[in-house]
Amino acid sequence: MKTKQELLELLNSLSLEDKIGQLQQVSPVTIEATGLETGVPTQNNGEIKKNFTSVLNLFGAEKLMKIQDEYLKNNEHKIPMLFMADIIHGYRTIMPIPLAQGCSFNPALVEKCNSNVAAEASADGMHVTFAPMVDLARDPRWGRILESTGEDTYLNTLFSAAMVRGFQGEDLSKDGTIAATVKHFAAYGGAEGGRDYNTVDISERSLRQDYLPSYKAGVDAGVALIMTSFNVIGGVPSTGNKKLLRDILRDEWGFNGTIITDWGSANTMISHSVAANQKEAARLSIEAGVDIEMCTPCYDRHLKELIDEGTVDIKLVDESVMRVLELKNKLGLFDNPYRFANPEKAKQIIGCDEFLADAKELACQSSVLLKNEDNILPLSEKSGKIAFIGPYTCEKRLNGAWSVLDKNENSPTLEQTLKKRFGDKAFKFAEGSKLLGVEQYYQAEFLKYDMCEDTREAKMKEAVKLAKKVDTVVMCIGEHYFESGEARGKAHITLPDVQIELFNRIYAVNKNIVVVLFNGRPVEIKNIADKAKAVLDVWFGGTMATEAIADMLFGITAPSGRLSASFPLCVGQIPVYYNYLPTDHPVENSFEFGSRHIDIPSEPCYPFGYGLSYTTFEYSDFTLSSDTLTKDGSITATVKVKNTGNRDSFETVQLYIRDRFASVSRPVKELKGFKKVWIKAGEEVSVDITLTPDDLRIYDINMDYVTEPGDFYVFVGKDSTVKEYKVFKYLG
Ligand code: GLC
Repeated sequence: MKTKQELLELLNSLSLEDKIGQLQQVSPVTIEATGLETGVPTQNNGEIKKNFTSVLNLFGAEKLMKIQDEYLKNNEHKIPMLFMADIIHGYRTIMPIPLAQGCSFNPALVEKCNSNVAAEASADGMHVTFAPMVDLARDPRWGRILESTGEDTYLNTLFSAAMVRGFQGEDLSKDGTIAATVKHFAAYGGAEGGRDYNTVDISERSLRQDYLPSYKAGVDAGVALIMTSFNVIGGVPSTGNKKLLRDILRDEWGFNGTIITDWGSANTMISHSVAANQKEAARLSIEAGVDIEMCTPCYDRHLKELIDEGTVDIKLVDESVMRVLELKNKLGLFDNPYRFANPEKAKQIIGCDEFLADAKELACQSSVLLKNEDNILPLSEKSGKIAFIGPYTCEKRLNGAWSVLDKNENSPTLEQTLKKRFGDKAFKFAEGSKLLGVEQYYQAEFLKYDMCEDTREAKMKEAVKLAKKVDTVVMCIGEHYFESGEARGKAHITLPDVQIELFNRIYAVNKNIVVVLFNGRPVEIKNIADKAKAVLDVWFGGTMATEAIADMLFGITAPSGRLSASFPLCVGQIPVYYNYLPTDHPVENSFEFGSRHIDIPSEPCYPFGYGLSYTTFEYSDFTLSSDTLTKDGSITATVKVKNTGNRDSFETVQLYIRDRFASVSRPVKELKGFKKVWIKAGEEVSVDITLTPDDLRIYDINMDYVTEPGDFYVFVGKDSTVKEYKVFKYLG
């Protein structure tokens, strides 16, 4: 590892062109375009480009070692390049989508799974991942809600820190680690209308109280990079936002890592009509403290000119270059430019049994049982003859949209998994429909595979005929993976029409339906859920999705997820999240003049924190250790939870507070603690969750971050609808 002095000497030995090259990330397309795959991309005029610092989304230990070799041959100062990638929820072993991971309420398990991801990626030559995405997401119309861990700030802070620790471990110079990037800074999830990249216009208080904590949790966990977001906040693009990047991120939070733009988000300040041209975009970005520009040439083309003409101080460039050199140094690249790339080792650990087992456990702990009438689940002899019907019986693309590397070529379908386990004759299968019907507004050519008008009626008829002959139908339906992810905002959040038609035609002949739901966002599911006997939400569960589904359907494992985001009754109910402000017309005070829609109930279809188990739990003896809390004190809520069913299971005991009167209006509930406990059948356990004054801090009327004296309600229960509370007074 180089010393600070040696890095300084290296910095001082660089020409201005060399320095600017250290701030430029090129796209894989550029490199692949040369056909040389030698890491030596071409300039737009075809000339070989030698001077850049990193490439993203190229994969494979052997390939990356070769690219590094070629790159260093062309690099006078032998500064290795960085290999970065979107390793969002898995490398080769893909985990459930992050929104599902949030439902696990198990940060420790997510941390372990992310350390597995880092081990695979590190052995395969990767240095940096563009994860975790920690944006608060309250709008299911937003396609990227799938990448978040949901609608709750507190839960997001825990997962942000756990994911950073999982990826980075204790020391980035160690094998099995990769540098993490907390993104998208900031408040990208606040896009109006759930339209990706759209305007974010939130108050300073909401920015600080609701949106920023999850980024700060990542910074406090030692994240190496921060990625700026595409959006404006109050009219200011994040990539050129000095207040956000210098005042808050660097000065207030003490972040001294690397800031990288999102793909072209320096350049897109021109589209925001804030930068008149790429030169302006370069100036705004470097002045805001952006270090690496991703995939556009504002720095490459204009920084030198800005320096030479005296518009930008070379000091800003030196500071940015130093941070990039420090990142490379921390990763050990100056000692070994290949870092831990090891093709043999990669073959051994990628997809190893331990990692697959962890991925399956997380898929089960992330799945949410939304309904289970007559305990129709788990399936057993009492289920009689069973048919699996729906496009997801024979679909292998179960990773969701953001799994850059593995489009799931090698994952079994549910039908394959069930036949492998129970034999070919145990169950009947029918696709019933494709994922999409032509009426669905997707003209993308590659989606044609997922539609088929010519066989549509025949498929339906075949499925209906089968449904008539069996006792139980398991319908495997859901969103197309294409419908969520980046640039996948939707105005309707129902399932594809053709699948709703299939469900209704099956329901017409067989009422004994279990729905297994595949989705990347909270969906409008009420009409189906009202008719089905059971609904098990398995999200996009990754490599081990169908193994986990088989385990859960047949009771080997029980699903133990609790919703990390509310399911609206309908799209018109959005925004609907549990920690809303009471308003001056709460529905409880006056139904007629309450803050509600008059044509639907106020509650969501399924609330935050909700989920069922294959057993039942009883809560009793809820107490507080005191009815007052002092500045240096703490208060412990204790509750007894009994497993009153006949099978051992997890229960996620949740603690919410309400700051009853404050200098600013506060939410009707806020999650401030939870414990996921394993309780044996018939056993009763006592669960303690402790609060301190720090947990109660708010941005008060003066925007000071304080805990105000006064009454606090404490709720402890199985989800955010818990009604019973106790009161304590914070004395200040
Ligand atoms: C994309 C995404 C960002 C991703 C980056 C690199 O536009 O917004 O999350 O990491 O570009 O692919």
